[in-house]
This record gives sequence, C-alpha cells and structure tokens, in this order.
Amino acid sequence: MNNAIIDDLNWRYATKKYDSEKKISSEDFETICESLRLVPSSYGLQPVKYIVVNDKSMREKLLPLAYNQPQITDASHLIVICSYRNISPKIVAEHLTLMSEVRSIALEDLSKFGENMNASFAKLSAEELCEWTAKQAYISLGHIMHTCANLRIDATPMEGFDKAAFDEALNLTSNNLQSVLLLALGYRSPEDKLSSLPKVRKPLSEIIEIVK
Ligand SMILES: Cc1cc2nc3c(=O)[nH]c(=O)nc-3n(C[C@H](O)[C@H](O)[C@H](O)COP(=O)(O)O)c2cc1C
Repeated sequence: MNNAIIDDLNWRYATKKYDSEKKISSEDFETICESLRLVPSSYGLQPVKYIVVNDKSMREKLLPLAYNQPQITDASHLIVICSYRNISPKIVAEHLTLMSEVRSIALEDLSKFGENMNASFAKLSAEELCEWTAKQAYISLGHIMHTCANLRIDATPMEGFDKAAFDEALNLTSNNLQSVLLLALGYRSPEDKLSSLPKVRKPLSEIIEIVK
C-alpha cells in the first residue's frame, strides 16, 4: 500500500470550521489552478468553469443562499464549480482546433470525432445535457480534493446551496453556466471538533467485489 497517498486521504476531512485568518499562498493557489486545468473530462472537452469568489461582499451575499454554512465566508478561498448548460457545435469546433494545434493533427482528421460528439449531444434534451456536464464537474471535485490534501490545504465539498439563487447572484445562466458544487479551501480552525473524529467508512469487503 502506498502510505503517502493513504496519509493524504486520512488527513483530509470535510472541514466545518475554518481559521479565517489563514490564507492560501499564491504559490499553492497556482498549483491548485494548474491541477484544475489537468482534470480529465469526457472527450477532453472540459465543459466546466471554476468561479473563484474573492469578493467579501459577494461571499456575504452567498452565505444565506448556502444555508449559512460558515465555510462560505470563513474559508480562505471559495470556488463555485460550474458546468456548461449547452454544448454548441461552436464549442466542439473550438475543442477540435485546440487539439489540432496542440497535437499537430490536421483539422480534417478530427472531423469524424467532431461529428460524433455533435451527434451525441444533439440526442440529449437540455436537461440531460446539463446533467451530463454536471457529472464532469464532480470529477473536478474528487481530483482537486486530493491535490489539496497533498498540499495540506483543507477543503470542503458542498452541495448544500440553492443552485438557482447562486446562478442568479453570479450571473451564470447568461454565460452558459450552471453552478454544480461549491468548494471551500483554507486551513482548519483548532476548534473544529470534526478534525479529530475517526472516518466513517464501510469495510472494503462491502464496497469492493472482485470478479475472478
Ligand atoms: C458531493 C458532496 C457534497 C457535500 N456537501 C456538503 C455540504 O454542503 N456541507 C458540508 O458541510 N459537507 C458536505 N459534504 C461533506 C460530506 O458530508 C463528507 O465528505 C462525508 O461525511 C465524509 O466525511 P469526510 O469527507 O470528512 O471524510 C459533501 C460531500 C460531498 C462529496
């Protein structure tokens, strides 16, 4: 077993109370941003955007929209993980152009890939498409939580907020975005009793089945 990985995962917990005086350094935040850029996604499309809310008054406005969970205002950083509402052929074309440039592939050699993508998105209703892109946002969440644990930065994944109200407060809908998850980041307060509680997890035998 790789103990460094397991140590990271045991160290982290969903922090309830942050030390509002402690801020993430710009160097660590750069690592977090680059880690977010490296999150994998279906087709490599990255139909996500991370809104980092640094503005204090905006965080105070968002607080009651997230059931007054104190992490919203006390954490060093608050990230609203958003995903696209719609994936237009233009978005697909931009992805193909990027891929063609980065990997030096002729655009015409990617046309079938693009057609397949457009055809699969065309089959989905607006609601199904939003659900599909939201799944991509959850991949970001798992990925970034481990990055933060490795940096010994606390993180709280949060679904407990009014998504429609966040979309309105941050003007997301008109930018083809929907809020999916919140991620508070920072440093645990010594008063957070949750930090010393043992992890509640099922035994391996209940969650892993090996088909021989
Ligand atoms: C998708 C997701 C949404 C969550 N939403 C909240 C939330 O809104 N507020 C909160 O305090 N914790 C939230 N949690 C934290 C979980 O309660 C916590 O991860 C779980 O109890 C396991 O504990 P641990 O993360 O401390 O190991 C959420 C976790 C996940 C993965």
